[in-house]
Amino acid sequence: MQLKDAARAVRENAYVPYSRFKVGAALMSPSGAIHVGCNVENVAYPEGTCAEAGAIAAMVAAGETEITEAYVIADSPHPVPPCGGCRQKLAEFAKGGVTVTLATTDGQEFVTTVADLLPGAFTSTHMDKA
Ligand code: THU
Repeated sequence: MQLKDAARAVRENAYVPYSRFKVGAALMSPSGAIHVGCNVENVAYPEGTCAEAGAIAAMVAAGETEITEAYVIADSPHPVPPCGGCRQKLAEFAKGGVTVTLATTDGQEFVTTVADLLPGAFTSTHMDKA
């Protein structure tokens, strides 16, 4: 299964009683495995988690810690951009050049990179004097 199909399929499982906005994310890791996640909301709104965070958790639980490609999809007028927190989460596990495809359910796609999504990222090198 391709990343696109995996993201589209997992999106259907999103738990979104509050926003009604379903998001699906799929990540490729070096083994070639695909890890998927959907957003999971909570009545205590800040406790909800994004699709990207779910996919990253699944990848780490599967024993992998590197993202080689990412795909995010939602039923949005424009390709859905990851939130700020998810950009940082993606940057933890992906090199700057890694492709992130943002998509809509009606077929629009915007292809970008982790570095373009998070310019000036905070990294471990910023703690070198600690
Ligand atoms: N959301 C994601 O899961 N990923 C994104 O990239 C953008 C936003 C979710 C969080 C929340 O469940 C809903 O979309 C509305 O913000």
